[in-house]
Amino acid sequence: MSSTRPATTAHIRPFEPRDLDAAVAVWAEATADRQPAVFPLADVVSALGAEHMALVAEREGTLTGAAVAHLQQDHAWILRIGVRSGARGEGVGGALLDALVDGLAARGVRRVSVLLPDGEAGAEALGAHQFTRRGGVSYHHRELSSGGSGDVLERLGGMYVTPGLFETLAGMEREKDLIERRVILPLARAEQADRHGVRPPRAIILFGPPGTGKTTFAKGVASRLRWPFVELFPSHLAVGGGQAAALREFFASIVEINEVVLFIDEVEEIAAIRDGRPVTHAVTNELLKLIPAFRERPRHLLVCATNAIHSLDAAFIRPGRFDYVLPVGPPDEAARAAIWRGYVAQITDDDVDIDRLVDATELFTPADIDFAARKAAQAAFEREVFGDGSTECSLIPGSTRAAVDDFLRAIADTRPTLTRAIVHEFETDIDAYARM
Ligand SMILES: Nc1ncnc2c1ncn2[C@@H]1O[C@H](COP(=O)(O)OP(=O)(O)OP(=O)(O)O)[C@@H](O)[C@H]1O
Ligand SMILES: [Mg+2]
Repeated sequence: MSSTRPATTAHIRPFEPRDLDAAVAVWAEATADRQPAVFPLADVVSALGAEHMALVAEREGTLTGAAVAHLQQDHAWILRIGVRSGARGEGVGGALLDALVDGLAARGVRRVSVLLPDGEAGAEALGAHQFTRRGGVSYHHRELSSGGSGDVLERLGGMYVTPGLFETLAGMEREKDLIERRVILPLARAEQADRHGVRPPRAIILFGPPGTGKTTFAKGVASRLRWPFVELFPSHLAVGGGQAAALREFFASIVEINEVVLFIDEVEEIAAIRDGRPVTHAVTNELLKLIPAFRERPRHLLVCATNAIHSLDAAFIRPGRFDYVLPVGPPDEAARAAIWRGYVAQITDDDVDIDRLVDATELFTPADIDFAARKAAQAAFEREVFGDGSTECSLIPGSTRAAVDDFLRAIADTRPTLTRAIVHEFETDIDAYARM
């Protein structure tokens, strides 16, 4: 399993005036067998004339769901989300909710609220989408991080990652499954996790050889949670004695954001075994001091990545500071196949045997595959420009794009980043350091 949301076959698009009749029918049907809605249908329809955002779900030309939110500056009220009875259980409501939250966040909304009549089934679904229930009434709200200019997020270089990034990571089922279960679900379903006494993670370490997808996984987590992603570059911290102070300042800004995935790549640069050099020592100590305060923030996740887990200070990675230490290994066959499929489709019309490329690239990282694919394309291009053996520029009619031999030759000419020794060391590191 790799996704918590059932795949929806519905297409989500903005509401258009011609949708009105069908949308009203969906909303009326959605409440027919339930408690009366908090906002009467007339209010919902009249909201369509004011500041609002409305979306519909469509399948094969038929409206299967419709949602509308009313905007009051940076606060939005979801007035209605309705799903046709025939389309329930297909994830349409969740897809509409996600698309609505994304669209509202993009328009500068910082809080989204929903009022449901008591006993309404939607309460559970809202919990699964990071909404918190308030008091005795069924009042749900979700604070969004601001995306406006000049604010903290922008100052820190934060961004929202394109939704769906996690799902585009090919293969790597073991890594995806682990990260989904241990990290994404407890944060995305905080109330449900809390009912079971599950403590959501606040900080994790991803380790593995270079180019295995650690950064992409970290961004994928932010994309799944729909939290902004902020990267701290150790090399950007002021050099010399100012580094610890710069780190402190950075963390002071981070806690001002409502929710965030904070990513530190190559964390060994600031958390290596304290070797007696006073500068590194001071920065490592500072980071150790800052993590407990960071951990107090419920919707903050620190993700550190490293190629050299064995070089990290033992005090840094201990339980209590980092909840999980997760391995991200070299791309497996499925990952390599998917990555190759993408390049082959761009580079040639030939029916290339992907399995041969996968077998020939066992120790390749995605970056190595990218390089080999570029070489294969270049070879076919030069063949067309120069012809075979001739240095004369020409355009040979009917000359072919890259063929499987071009790919295999390019692979043979590419030095893989991984070696058996690196893979072996990674496996030893899993035994010694992984905590999952
Ligand atoms: N499973 C995958 N499917 C498709 N593309 C992938 C996959 N894993 C990684 N990639 C691609 O490979 C490239 C390298 O990935 P990434 O930068 O995340 O690796 P990394 O582990 O962070 O590397 P480093 O250790 O050098 O920081 C990226 O362009 C990424 O999109
Ligand atoms: Mg990286």
